[in-house]
Formats: sequence, C-alpha cells, structure tokens
Amino acid sequence: MKYWRQEFGTINGQTVWQHWLENSQGYQLAVIDYGATITNLVMPDKAGQFKNVVIGYDNLADYLKQEAYFGATVGRVAGRIGKGAFTLDGHDYQLPLNNGENTNHGGPNSFESQVWQASVEEQADAISVTFKLTSPDGANGFPGNLSVATTYTLNEKNEWLVDYQATSDQTTLFNPTCHVYLNLTGDFDQLVDGHQLQIDSDRFGEIQPDGLPTGQLLPVDQTVFDLRQPRAIADAFASQETQNQLVNGYDHPFLLNKNADRNDAILTEPTSGRSLTINTEGNAIVIYTANGFGSEPNLTDKAIQPHEAVAIEAQMMPDAIHHADFGNVILKANEQYHRQTCYKLN
Ligand code: BGC
Repeated sequence: MKYWRQEFGTINGQTVWQHWLENSQGYQLAVIDYGATITNLVMPDKAGQFKNVVIGYDNLADYLKQEAYFGATVGRVAGRIGKGAFTLDGHDYQLPLNNGENTNHGGPNSFESQVWQASVEEQADAISVTFKLTSPDGANGFPGNLSVATTYTLNEKNEWLVDYQATSDQTTLFNPTCHVYLNLTGDFDQLVDGHQLQIDSDRFGEIQPDGLPTGQLLPVDQTVFDLRQPRAIADAFASQETQNQLVNGYDHPFLLNKNADRNDAILTEPTSGRSLTINTEGNAIVIYTANGFGSEPNLTDKAIQPHEAVAIEAQMMPDAIHHADFGNVILKANEQYHRQTCYKLN
C-alpha cells in the first residue's frame, strides 16, 4: 500500500491537501480536506486499463464553483427536510431553506464546504484517511456540538470503505452520505445510459415535484423503479412513467430489503466490464442521475451535461424525521454513532 499527499489549493488561508491511497494492484483513491471529498477513484477495466470513474476536478477553484456536492461528505442530514422544520424532545427547530421550501443536504455551506482535519493510518493491507470536523451547536439551526469523522479506506481486497462516526452533546439529527458521482466508463463525455443498475429494494420513496418525499413507499413492481434485476439506467430517461415520478431520470430513495444473500446495490458498465458492489448499514440508497447538470465547470473539453454520472447515496431515508417508517435519524446526546458503507471494486 502507498500513501502520498499534494497541495490542492488554499481557502481562507488554509491549505487544502489531496491525499492519495494506492494498493499493490494499482487501484487508487484520492480525497481532499475540503468537504472531506473524494476526487478520484481509479480502477481497471476488463483489459486492465486504469481510469478515474468518479466526477472530480484537479483544482480547488472548480470545486468552489459547483453546487452539486461532487464527491463530498454531505451532512448533517442528507436529502431534504420538509419545510426545514422538525420537533425534537419537545423543541421546534427551523433550519435555513436552501432548496425551494425545504432544507437540502444540511442547509447552505454545510459539511461539503468546510476544511476538515486529516490524519492518516497505514496498515499492511489497508490505508485510511480520517477527516474530522466540529459542527457547533446551532450550526444551520441544528442542536448540539457535533464531532464528526469521515474515514475513507482503500484495502488490498479492492474495497473502498466509508465510515462515519459522530457524537453530540445534545440530542440532534444525523444522517450523512457520500455524494460520489460515478461513470464507470471513465470517460466523462459519455452518458451513463448504458450502465446497469441493480438495487435490492421492493419499495421506493415517492417524491413531490420539488424532490421532497411524500412519505409514501410505493411498490417497484411493473415500474422502471424495479431494479431487483439489473436494468439499464436509460430506461429511466426513456420511460413514460405512469406514476409521474421521473424527474428527467431518477432522484429517489430506495428502501433496502436487506436480504442477507443479496447485495444492496450493484452498478455495472458492460463495455468496460467495470462494476461496483455496494453494501451499507443504512436503510436506503438514493439514486440521482445528475438530471440537473449543466452549470458546473467542465470535466473535459465539452460542457458537462445531464446524465453524465449517477450518484449512489447510501444513507437513511430522506426526511425520515417526518415519517415513522423511514428509519431513525435521531442521534441521542453522548451516543456514539457509527455507520459503514463498503464499495467493492470489480
Ligand atoms: C438530490 C438532488 C440534488 C442533488 C444535488 C441529490 O442528492 O437528491 O435533488 O439536485 O443532490 O444537490
């Protein structure tokens, strides 16, 4: 295993480092202190050709220009909170709205735009970078001084692991995710139409036109949301979805079945032969097919375009605080939080 770091940029007088992890088979993971963000995931195709398969820039200035959470650690709460309002332990909280009438991804200038403190742990068969952040009581309206750690690990089994740990001195909400955008062709002029996606989910979360979950869990049967067998992502772009759910693609949470003998999700790109198998301790995977891309800085010589990547966000269901059957996102005072997602790179 190898580790090195290089300067990536400066913000508010603070140096942002890019940390590179590499295993003996040549797989690489690069992460930066800004947003505890993954910038590169380098893996081979079936002919052994290594390419980066996640959206990322090679300079900090471009990260500051995009608002699509490229590769970032998202929190305190991933996804929308309806009207940015919730009640906890008898107190009413109002968060700033940053997505129409709702609060998305923890509100403005949240985890994705902070400079985190990195430390590195090297072992014989794995290397980890841990990013730490203290989110003060009242940050974006959330209660509690929250200590958060995001750990990225690359190991010799060709696994990439994301671990979140947190504690808060007051009861609060916590539901982080990794907002990585994948394109397994490694060519960001190609769309993800031909990728095959499989998710072990019988029910998905219905959304309103503004993206907020309605609270209804709908059966995937006979819809383009049925990903229990691999399905081309393009089906979600071409379909005349009967339930009026598609928003130029997917932007939906899938409630995981948690079948012991099935993986939570598998993304495959048949031409390159690259594939990623995802297992998470959260109860949901949100799929966002980059439907709104267009204003972000170029990744190649050409302008960025919708469907150029797919975000696979492992988390608890969005807006869970308002829907009893969406799972628990309450972190009790002084309780230790830990959640892991494993991405097996094939
Ligand atoms: C959301 C999308 C949003 C995107 C970028 C996704 O997780 O579900 O609605 O446009 O993040 O903010």
